Amino acid sequence: MSGGRIPRTFIDDLLARVDLVDLIDTHVPLKKTGANYVARCPFHTEKTPSFSVNRNKQFYHCFGCGVSGNAISFLMDFNHLDFVEAVEDLATFAGLEVPREAFEKPDSGNKGDLPLLYRTMEQVAAFYTEQLNTHPEGKKALGYLQNRGVSGEVIADYVLGYAPLAWKKLQERFDSQRLQTCGLLGRNEEGDLYGRFRGRVMFPIRDKRGRVIGFGGRILDDSLPKYLNSPETPLFQKGREVYGLYELLRKNSKPQRILVVEGYMDVIALAQFGIHYAVATLGTATSQAHLELLFRFTGEVVLCFDGDKAGREAAWRAMEPIFPCLRDGRQVRIMLLPQNEDPDSLIRKEGETGFANRLQAAETLSDYFFTRLSSELNLSRLEDRAQLVNRAKPYLDKLPQSIFREMMFARLRELTEYRSLDVSENTAKLKRKYDRKPLQEKGRPSSARTALALLVQNPRLVELIEQKEIDWNELDFPGVELFKDILHAVLANTPATAGALLEIFREKPEEKSVKALALLPLLVPPDGLEAEFSDALDRLLAQSRSSVLDKLLAKEQSAGLDRREKDLLRKLLAHTHK
Ligand code: UTP
Ligand code: MN
Repeated sequence: MSGGRIPRTFIDDLLARVDLVDLIDTHVPLKKTGANYVARCPFHTEKTPSFSVNRNKQFYHCFGCGVSGNAISFLMDFNHLDFVEAVEDLATFAGLEVPREAFEKPDSGNKGDLPLLYRTMEQVAAFYTEQLNTHPEGKKALGYLQNRGVSGEVIADYVLGYAPLAWKKLQERFDSQRLQTCGLLGRNEEGDLYGRFRGRVMFPIRDKRGRVIGFGGRILDDSLPKYLNSPETPLFQKGREVYGLYELLRKNSKPQRILVVEGYMDVIALAQFGIHYAVATLGTATSQAHLELLFRFTGEVVLCFDGDKAGREAAWRAMEPIFPCLRDGRQVRIMLLPQNEDPDSLIRKEGETGFANRLQAAETLSDYFFTRLSSELNLSRLEDRAQLVNRAKPYLDKLPQSIFREMMFARLRELTEYRSLDVSENTAKLKRKYDRKPLQEKGRPSSARTALALLVQNPRLVELIEQKEIDWNELDFPGVELFKDILHAVLANTPATAGALLEIFREKPEEKSVKALALLPLLVPPDGLEAEFSDALDRLLAQSRSSVLDKLLAKEQSAGLDRREKDLLRKLLAHTHK
């Protein structure tokens, strides 16, 4: 999100310094059993421990729910962090400062020092709070909030404040350059800088760790614009942040559901009346990034819209970002409010129970989607059923592979009596799976699989490969592409452990295979590793050579060989006579 890229070498270094056992032990107390450390899995509920951490591999795995990974993955999953945040926390754990590569975007001239910007935002929020409580205008703002029934408790919980009318109030206290980078100043036609927010009740927007990253400000009367929001800054991206998440997580870090509403005041009123699981988008439509963020904390997101025409249209537009997010274990429901009401007004009328009842009755996504799509169609007519297929299919195609996806297609088939809908993943993906198959077969591991697993689990074995002076062109066996990918990664990065090697494959197509290799039981004693690896390599080489030899001989008969191929053939023939 912020700052330049974190250099690859730093991440390697970090993983080499941190001991995964120590790291996990501070979060989940571990017990030593044999070569591993075990605990009850923090990622699913279980009575007997199946979560296991291996110090040599710097890799954890749960035999119950299947999670696995290295120190960075652990922090991401355990603390619901994104990658950069996990690296930052891990660096703190190791007592290191995260370096950043120079930021490449052209508009980044005065990005400045991020910690300084966060501090400025924090101080400005505190200044606004002080103004609400002490400035004569602030008294008016407080009166406005009280008039709207906002309690002192939520004013404090959400750190509401007041930005005075005076044009240069902030600059008297803070550095202009920094204020400008934080998005708190505007510039008039004469080029003068002035405070962006004036005469407004201020709502600090905090990220999920509680840092102030932006503000929303409401005017006290009917003038326009009613709300002003911070612009995009190095700290703040509207499309990725929601209002109220920090406050929500402070009450409950794993809420059963999260309700998404439209306004600042809605979040605050809901919290005041006991509904602590609401957040608001910041004057933008719900995005896929918003949904991904929320699904890190909950399995169910309920999107709440006003009952007017604009609200109903917004609900339908939300289908775009929703469908790609619906993996198994994630649910969305749609809640449409009555005309001329918003959550703020409704909960004040109906109280927590009334509102919770409405929430309970909110439509499932599948019902909402199909009802809405067929509302103007007459499904007893073939033409209308064809239209339904045409309208629904582009959305359903975006669903990730899941039971839900299959059921949505089944529902569409049922509604339209159209049998030949294709539910399967796209063929390219299937093909890739098939290509990888030779390495994933059950039963006795092949030489390739053994060699690779040995290498993944003990990357230092790569030295043996270097000693053998293998010609990469002569390698030919099932799974050779993965073998080359991994070999390449080990040679280029010299990771010390499986955990560090895995980092190189994060979110790459090979990640799953590398994890599986890291877990493959090998039952080789530590002092037998080199011999075993060397044997496996020799078998692979022999297998490759005879396969390449067969191909070259066949080609010599049919099309003839070029010079390079002739050299290779000569070399291989020499080997077979050794
Ligand atoms: P609404 O106009 O529905 O207002 O805007 P509201 O939340 O009910 O506010 P109150 O009750 O009148 O105080 C919903 C959201 O849309 C964004 C804000 O994020 C607001 O909370 N918005 C609205 C703007 O960004 N600018 C505006 O001028 C209006
Ligand atoms: Mn309102």
